Amino acid sequence: MKEREPENYKWWQKEIVYQIYPRSYKDNSGDGIGDLPGIIEKLDYIKDLGIKVIWISPIYPSPMADFGYDVSDYTGIHPMFGTMEDFDRLLDEIHKRNMKLILDFVPNHSSNMHEWFQESRKSKDSPKRDCYIWKDPAPDGGPPNNWLSVFGGSGWEYDEETNQYYYHAFLKEQPDLNWRNPEVQEAMFHVMRFWLEKGVDGFRVDVMWHLIKDDQFRDNPPNPDYTKDYSPYDKHLQAFTTDQPEVHDIVEKMRSVIDEYDERLLIGEIYLPVEQLVEYYGKDNRGAHLPFNFQLVVLPWDARKIEAAINKYEGALPPEGWPNWVLGNHDNSRIATRVGAKQARIAAMLLLTLRGTPTIYYGDEIGMEDVSIAPDQVQDPQEKNIPGKGLNRDPERTPMQWNASENAGFTNGNPWLPLMGNFKELNVEKQWDSEESMLSFYRKLIALRQKEPALQIGNYRPVLSKGNLLAYIRSSEEKKIFITLNLGNSGAVMDSEIPFSKAVILASTHAGREGKSLNKTIDLQANEGLVAEITE
Ligand code: NOJ
Repeated sequence: MKEREPENYKWWQKEIVYQIYPRSYKDNSGDGIGDLPGIIEKLDYIKDLGIKVIWISPIYPSPMADFGYDVSDYTGIHPMFGTMEDFDRLLDEIHKRNMKLILDFVPNHSSNMHEWFQESRKSKDSPKRDCYIWKDPAPDGGPPNNWLSVFGGSGWEYDEETNQYYYHAFLKEQPDLNWRNPEVQEAMFHVMRFWLEKGVDGFRVDVMWHLIKDDQFRDNPPNPDYTKDYSPYDKHLQAFTTDQPEVHDIVEKMRSVIDEYDERLLIGEIYLPVEQLVEYYGKDNRGAHLPFNFQLVVLPWDARKIEAAINKYEGALPPEGWPNWVLGNHDNSRIATRVGAKQARIAAMLLLTLRGTPTIYYGDEIGMEDVSIAPDQVQDPQEKNIPGKGLNRDPERTPMQWNASENAGFTNGNPWLPLMGNFKELNVEKQWDSEESMLSFYRKLIALRQKEPALQIGNYRPVLSKGNLLAYIRSSEEKKIFITLNLGNSGAVMDSEIPFSKAVILASTHAGREGKSLNKTIDLQANEGLVAEITE
């Protein structure tokens, strides 16, 4: 058997991940918030898209201070989303369809309403005291050091009960767990096993790079690049609060838990420069299978910068480290808003033709855009705490647009966030049968990727970045596939740089191009992208 045949790759290398923000996917109970029965109803839609891996943002019991990223019971289901029976049915229905389920795991912090924290805050002698990060006040009575919260203000919250502060990297309702404590580690590994025993196929680990903090509690240094437009959190470089050397031991331990079971997946949410990011694959690849690569989320939409980033990433990957690419998620402005509706097609083509596992954020497949949120509709605690800096995450979390009926078929109740005004035009039902729609374009690209080993698992070779043009080749032993993308709003031409004498177009952002040949000159229209099989 040839080493590079698709059957020698793991499912998570070959398949595409689809992120569901459960509050906004499909509401069957009528309370205006999505739920598990709603997701079950839509599984065939996801399957028919050609997607086999679903990652669902947190569905555990939670006071919802940070919409589920504040967990009060790691082994339960929030009644708003359904029951454990609903969850078991969801998992079963997913597996029946030969699909996989990835859960969000939030180990850095719990809710302040979690029984561990309730116990921990009772007294300095509580058996759970050391499960969280408690410190005496500074000599002036203020916080123990200068650590800040991502969501604004100090990272320390004073607790009168015991005259100490506890650390919270996010909201004060999200106290950080003390991962240096073996008891915390064991309790959290127990949680992982609970879900793995049930049969979940892996986890996306929330803020993996935050798990360990400096044990000397040193002050973070100032960030020399900080300006007033930034979030106040960026006043400091996170030298002592994130990406600490010992975090890798924890990731390795998580991976060992994952490896107690067959073929499960460990994804890490990590926002770091590439050199630091790739460390999370771990020594001898004993860390995360997929440390999320957010470069397409954070980089400017510029062909040269993107090519440089791809090449740097490809070069930095450890041997056997499998790449991955993300275009959007529930924390960042939607791709169609960042780059515009026309370029969103180019972005989809890029995501689905790069080497590595792609992650698609729900709704991007129909070209959903950020929805503008009036001040009295704001839900996101980040916007409430740090208003006016463009940090609101509600715009990218709005309900999925299923059809042209009231509330886009998302709910019979009052949707928890407003819908996009154009949902009558922009929805799944309307786009499914329209050949030129974004949804049909996504389906075509997904089918092509899944059919062509060159795209699914083949090598990547850069061809050029020039002006707005970005071109590369993906190749398997049998086939070479050429991709050229115009990231600009005016026409662009490739001639002497064309790395073949003849190619046949397999997919295009524009109608009427498929099946045509390419040879001496390629005239790309504004916002046009092509995928072509090299024949000579
Ligand atoms: C990252 C999650 O993606 C985000 O939504 C959340 O607010 C923070 N972690 C805190 O859990």
